[in-house]
Amino acid sequence: MLKYLVVYASESGNTKMIAEEIFKAIPSPSKDIVNIRQWTGKLDAETYFIGFWANHGSCSLEIIDLLSSLINKNIAIFGTCGMNNTEEYFKNIETNVRAWISDSNYYLGSYFCQGKMPALIREKYEKCRDKCDDPYIIDHMISMYEEGLQHPNKQDLLRANVFADAAIKNIPDDVNL
Ligand SMILES: Cc1cc2nc3c(=O)[nH]c(=O)nc-3n(C[C@H](O)[C@H](O)[C@H](O)COP(=O)(O)O)c2cc1C
Repeated sequence: MLKYLVVYASESGNTKMIAEEIFKAIPSPSKDIVNIRQWTGKLDAETYFIGFWANHGSCSLEIIDLLSSLINKNIAIFGTCGMNNTEEYFKNIETNVRAWISDSNYYLGSYFCQGKMPALIREKYEKCRDKCDDPYIIDHMISMYEEGLQHPNKQDLLRANVFADAAIKNIPDDVNL
């Protein structure tokens, strides 16, 4: 069994960038990284870093399947979100996704940052403008969209690296899984 496994879901590459940075930060040769789409379930590890893109305030089904299948592991989660680049929003997503991790596991925390969204989303927002009573809501969503185009940036990657390092240091030696 490996010591560390990074498993991620990424449709457009944002979460993959974070996953690769976390993989780089793991100071052990006993590690692997896999896109959940290519994962056969044969790989196993003591510690999982599980990444996903925000999907309707949570994560996708394949990530739910993985999280809810794990027993007696150390688990950290990470992800990218297109909207609402705030700690409060990140906390909500963490709460929604953490609910799928059983108590038999040792939870190591979460890391989130913003990620860019496809141009189609901006077009959708623009189309809603006429139907929306408050045009400032659309302006706000478009400004979030534009902010997202800069992410993940170097700082996001650096923070992911620091998060992975701290998560690993937080695994108690005598963790009784
Ligand atoms: C169907 C769908 C649902 C989404 N739902 C959310 C959401 O609830 N909250 C959010 O912040 N971003 C949401 N997004 C945006 C993505 O989570 C975001 O762009 C993410 O960085 C994509 O990561 P990836 O490049 O790894 O696929 C959604 C995107 C799609 C396609």
